[in-house]
Amino acid sequence: MAKFDPVLSRNWNVPDAHTLKVYESRGGYQAARKALTTMDPDAVVNLVKDSELRGRGGAGFPCGLKWTFLPKDRKETLMCVNGDESEPATFNNRYLLELDPHMFLEGILISCFATRASTAYAYLRFEYIKGAKILEEAIAEARAAGHLGKNIYGTGFNLDVWVHRGAGAYICGEETGLIESLEGKRGWPRIKPPFPAIEGAFRKPTVVNNVETLCCVPHIVERGAAWFKSIGTPKSYGPKLYTVSGHVEKQVCVELPLGVTCRELIDEHAGGVWKGRKAKAAVPGGISMGLLSADELDTPLDFESLRKPGCLGLGTAAVTVIDDHTPIIDYLVNTARFFAHESCGQCTPCREGTGWMNKTIHRIKNGGGRVEDLDVMLHLANNLGIIPGTTICGLADGAAWPIKNALAKFRPELEEYIRTHQTPGAGPTPLQLDIAAGRRVDLVQLAPAIAAAAPPAAALHSPGRPSA
Ligand SMILES: Cc1cc2nc3c(=O)[nH]c(=O)nc-3n(C[C@H](O)[C@H](O)[C@H](O)COP(=O)(O)O)c2cc1C
Ligand code: SF4
Repeated sequence: MAKFDPVLSRNWNVPDAHTLKVYESRGGYQAARKALTTMDPDAVVNLVKDSELRGRGGAGFPCGLKWTFLPKDRKETLMCVNGDESEPATFNNRYLLELDPHMFLEGILISCFATRASTAYAYLRFEYIKGAKILEEAIAEARAAGHLGKNIYGTGFNLDVWVHRGAGAYICGEETGLIESLEGKRGWPRIKPPFPAIEGAFRKPTVVNNVETLCCVPHIVERGAAWFKSIGTPKSYGPKLYTVSGHVEKQVCVELPLGVTCRELIDEHAGGVWKGRKAKAAVPGGISMGLLSADELDTPLDFESLRKPGCLGLGTAAVTVIDDHTPIIDYLVNTARFFAHESCGQCTPCREGTGWMNKTIHRIKNGGGRVEDLDVMLHLANNLGIIPGTTICGLADGAAWPIKNALAKFRPELEEYIRTHQTPGAGPTPLQLDIAAGRRVDLVQLAPAIAAAAPPAAALHSPGRPSA
């Protein structure tokens, strides 16, 4: 690989790099000055479009192209920066926020100038208390120094940045769930269209971009689109922050050109698989993306290559390693529990499907599985999500992918587990068997059983609450 100079993480080992003084001493805000004082907004949009920067938040949508979807005659634009970062094992936004908040602010400033947004909301994951505090301090410093506020660099451009902390829901990372949450409502994703560029936060044209996406922008302004496109693979450009966790010796967040392989990340950056063991599998980019088997670890982690081994995509580029002592059913137990818990419940296939999958996987884990359960789960997984067109958002696809990949790559192991862990009494109930087999369930016949199982009416009232 040609020599690669990190840019996103270049200040991470510099003492006090989170302060304005140190950031400016290392060339900080020069790209913003260049953009605001020598370029017009459309030129910045075109530059980002030419760089073919693709969103780092999961979907990989081209950033500059998204900015061109804003209505030409808009009166106001809002920017929502997605720092919800709730995909399990993903922590690259956290590093950017805590270690280089001014680079993040410079990215916001240039991107807001390009899209003519004079208000930006940085929506942060609830748990990022330290990151929120550091960012608030950086905003105050930047405002006092004239990088934010009114008439920035004497150009007449105004920008306010507000930090908004989420309340701890994965679904608020989905861009329209985020917007609903920002508006003070329950984080329920919206049906699209309209997309946020047309009607977003407070019904105004809104740009939603990930933290890392915007952190790339100052470097593109400083070094040009050709520089950006010289890094990476023939179709996936630029530097990327990869996180590696799970069964490795050292958990890391490392900046590399797009297209590095899982094997290189594990062996050269994370100290290898822990305890001298071998990898059985790896999650390539957050659990929504599915699973690579051990013989697929040389797949480049970029926007195109992961489709070949059947993964959903690059996602958040968060690699989680699973060692060869770990049963795949344990991986499925964790993923299914997560998605069943985080489904917002609006769409029946997602709400019910994630719940069924969770219950079935737990039953298998506890010794009550049947080999036929695997086909029922596959049928479910193939029919829920935005790709088969049955749900509002992609959470359901993310719930389906680990199951599809595990069944495609580890079915013999799962069947063996079911056969060797049968426990009397742990199997499905007759009603569950009827539903799984598609047999008609006669509710009239079942009524006495349901009534017998129901708690007495008095138990439905909490102490202190008057009963009717
Ligand atoms: C269930 C779900 C959760 C998501 N969580 C995040 C998240 O935490 N951070 C993020 O940037 N994007 C997340 N996304 C993707 C966003 O909807 C959106 O595509 C992204 O923020 C756009 O920014 P980008 O184009 O810069 O990547 C999520 C999507 C889904 C379906
Ligand atoms: S797919 Fe799931 S998480 Fe997304 S809107 Fe529907 S129910 Fe909610």
